[in-house]
Amino acid sequence: MMKTTTKLVSASDVTFTPSRTAHPFESPTLSMQEPTAASIHAAAAYIRQGDLVAFPTETVYGLGANALDSQAVEKVYAAKHRPADNPLILHIASIQYLRKLILPQHIPDIYDSLIAKFWPGPLTIILPLDNESTQISKLCTSGQSTFAVRMPANQLALALIATAGVPLAAPSANTSTKPSPTSAQHVEHDLHGRLGLILDGGRSDVGLESTVVDGLVDPPQILRPGGISLEEIRDVKGWEETIVHRADLSSAVAVPRTPGMKYRHYSPIAQVILFVCGAEPSSSWLHANGINGKAVFLCRTRNWAPELAGSLGVTDYPLGQAGKDISRNLFETLRCLDARGAEVILVEGVEETNEGLAIMNRLRKAASLTIDQ
Ligand code: TXA
Ligand code: MG
Repeated sequence: MMKTTTKLVSASDVTFTPSRTAHPFESPTLSMQEPTAASIHAAAAYIRQGDLVAFPTETVYGLGANALDSQAVEKVYAAKHRPADNPLILHIASIQYLRKLILPQHIPDIYDSLIAKFWPGPLTIILPLDNESTQISKLCTSGQSTFAVRMPANQLALALIATAGVPLAAPSANTSTKPSPTSAQHVEHDLHGRLGLILDGGRSDVGLESTVVDGLVDPPQILRPGGISLEEIRDVKGWEETIVHRADLSSAVAVPRTPGMKYRHYSPIAQVILFVCGAEPSSSWLHANGINGKAVFLCRTRNWAPELAGSLGVTDYPLGQAGKDISRNLFETLRCLDARGAEVILVEGVEETNEGLAIMNRLRKAASLTIDQ
């Protein structure tokens, strides 16, 4: 693959500096408005010429390409080392655009109330696709008869999509199997040299990916839990009976409804051990499992005592107590502990309600071992 030079545009660089008119990439000293607009125009130009741009969203950073350009979309799969049978989410900046250009036919009524409540926001919907007439690259959809789309709640993302004038096919901007990136630095760590530009919008607010819902089946299904909870979705008219799809991956012939869910995911270098249902590590457990003497970090959430790490002789690294805090901190913590040389990460699970469903979904995929009582 061709190597490109990655340029990093930092929002923090632009905040407190005086206005100047130089090209935004000539210097890290940018002005507050013009260069920000200029950097978005530059990023949009990269997209239109078929290059990749990483951009912030409220969930995690996305690796964007023009969804109508197969050569550009191919670069996404190559940059991430992503299997070709795992389709991408399209990102749009307006519903009008979706109606006119992407889906000339009617958007199924069931989505109206959901779109009205959660867009822009961390919700991805599955829509039918007419493979004959669509302009969307078939590579985005891995040949399926549906496609996934969302409108992100992030001003930089919306400005980039609107300026580029095309939908962005964008998976999370990490190397496949690694925790999703929640900062521009994470993207740079994984993908440096494999994309044109990274737009730095600071830390992602939600920290976990969007919820993927399928309203084309009855009852509607959550295919991937994420930033909007099952409870919030069931609160919407027409979505009261929504269920969470559980892929039966034990069967060799089962085709997972959300192909991405079958792959290894969110794995830091360190071994993640997840404790559920009130289970808690003890000194004898550490000893029996050969973990003594290793670089061990303890990520507690709601019930483990602050003194637990000290009593075990390991390092305390709290994830937070509120669901929103744990979500925001999770991927960042996994990456940070890798950087600190962690060999083992012991994590206290949470109940699978509200934000807990998405948190536990990601933790179960990151963990190589789950301990219950
Ligand atoms: O929050 C997010 O959704 C982030 C940001 C960048 O928007 N994106 C993201 O994309 O998480 P990615 O590629 O990492 O995950 C997309 C998920 C995968 O599990 C994929 O299989 C599923 O969406 N998906 C895409 N198209 C689908 C379709 N037509 N039917 C079912 N699942 C689909
Ligand atoms: Mg991903």
